[in-house]
Amino acid sequence: MTTPVRHAHITGWGRYAPEQVLTNHDLERMVDTSDEWIVTRTGIRERRVAAAHETTASMAAVASLRAIRTAGIEPDDIDMILLATLTPDYWMPSTAALVKEAIGNTRASAMDVAAACSGFVYAYATAHAYITSGLARHVLVIGAELLTRFLDYTDRNTCILFGDGAGAVVVSASDEPGGGLGIELTTEPQGAYMIWLPAGGAKSPPSAETVARGEHYVRMEGKETYRFATRTLATTGLAAIQKAGLEPADIDLFIPHQANIRIIEAVAKGLDLPMERMYVNLDKYGNTSAASVPIALAEAVNEGRVKVGDRIVIVAFGAGFTSGAVAIEWTADPARGLAGDAAVRPEDVSVRLPVDWDSVDPIPDALAELMRRPGLVDVPLDDVVPGEPEPVLPGPGRGG
Ligand code: ACO
Repeated sequence: MTTPVRHAHITGWGRYAPEQVLTNHDLERMVDTSDEWIVTRTGIRERRVAAAHETTASMAAVASLRAIRTAGIEPDDIDMILLATLTPDYWMPSTAALVKEAIGNTRASAMDVAAACSGFVYAYATAHAYITSGLARHVLVIGAELLTRFLDYTDRNTCILFGDGAGAVVVSASDEPGGGLGIELTTEPQGAYMIWLPAGGAKSPPSAETVARGEHYVRMEGKETYRFATRTLATTGLAAIQKAGLEPADIDLFIPHQANIRIIEAVAKGLDLPMERMYVNLDKYGNTSAASVPIALAEAVNEGRVKVGDRIVIVAFGAGFTSGAVAIEWTADPARGLAGDAAVRPEDVSVRLPVDWDSVDPIPDALAELMRRPGLVDVPLDDVVPGEPEPVLPGPGRGG
C-alpha cells in the first residue's frame, strides 16, 4: 500500500463519437415524430450510431488512449480501470477487462460500474476514494455506451433520445490542492422501474418469447423520469457544492448529464444561474447515458470553456433512480486535450475478438439503411476488382 495522499486531480481527458449521424429527419421516416417536436421537447437535433465493427469496448478504448495521451503518461501507469456502462459488450467478461488489453495496460485492476446514466459520476467518486486513500496513483475512469442496439425503433418515446459514444478521464494523485472538492451520490429505488430493460437478466433470461415481446429494449416512463431529473440534478449538485464549502455562484461551469435541454434549463433556474454556466452538447449527441458527462467534459475543456482554477460541477441522474455530483477545481492545462485527441486514431485501436465465435450482424434492422449510406462503408463488392484502386466516395468526415 502506498502513502495516503490528499488530492485527486483530472490530468487527462478524451472522447470518441462514432462517425455515423442519425438526424431527427431520419427518425421522422421510422416513427410518427417530427424534427420540430424533438427539438422543442428535448433540444436534440442528431445523435451518433456506432458502426458494425464498433463496440462499447472499442469506443471506450479510443477515448481512454486519448485521455492517457492528454495526461502525458503511459498506459501501464494506470493502476485501475473503472468503466461505467449500461450497454456492456458481454455479460461477462467486464468491458473494462477488454479495454485494459486494448490500451496495452498490463498492471491495472479493471471493473465495470452499473449506475446507468450516473455511472460515470459514481465511477469518478470511486476513483477519488482510491486515490485519496493511497490505494491507487492513476485511475482511468470511462463512460461508454452503445445504446442504439438496445432501442425499439417503433417506440417514439425512447428511440429519439439516445445515441452512442465514449468519454474518459485520468484521475491522478497529487500533494497539490485542487481536484475533487465535494461528492454527493444518491440512489432512490422507488424509481427502479421507471427506466429499465426487462429481459436478459436472471429474472427473465433471454428467450424467443422475451424477444417477441420486445423486452430486450429500454423502457421508460418519461414524465416520472423528467420530474425526478429536474429535482435531483439541482439538489445533488447543490449538496456536492456545499460539501466543497462553496455556493452555486462560485461555480464557473456545470457539466450536467445531457438528457434534455428543458431539464438543464430547470436546473439553472433552480440554482439561480444563467444558462451560460451550463454546458450543453446534447443537440449533437442526444443522451449517451454514462458517456454523456465525460464527452461533455472533454468538449468543454477543448473548447476553452474551462481554465486552470475554475470550479466545475459534473452532475448526472439516471435509472435506479441514481444521481451523483462532484465539485472539482480544475488544475490541468486545457490546451493538452486537442493534442491528446489528435495522437490517437480510431483505426489504430482494436479490441481482441474470440477465435471461434462471431456475433450476428449487430446493426438493428431499422438502422440498416442508414448504415449503408454512401461515404461510410457502401462499396458494393462487385465493383471492387482486386489490384485496382477502390472508388473514392464522398464522405461526411464527421468522425470524432
Ligand atoms: N414525437 C412526437 N410525439 C411524441 C413523441 C415523439 N418522439 N414522444 C412522445 N410523444 C407524444 C406523446 O405520445 C404524448 O402524446 P399524447 O398527449 O397524445 O399522449 C405527447 O407527445 C406528450 O408526451 P409527453 O411524454 O408528455 O412529452 P414530454 O414533454 O414529457 O417529453 C420526454 C417526453 C422528452 C421523454 C421527457 O419526458 C423527458 O425528457 N423525460 C426524461 C427522460 C430522460 O431523461 N431519460 C433518461 C434517463 S437516464 C438513464 O439512466 C437511461
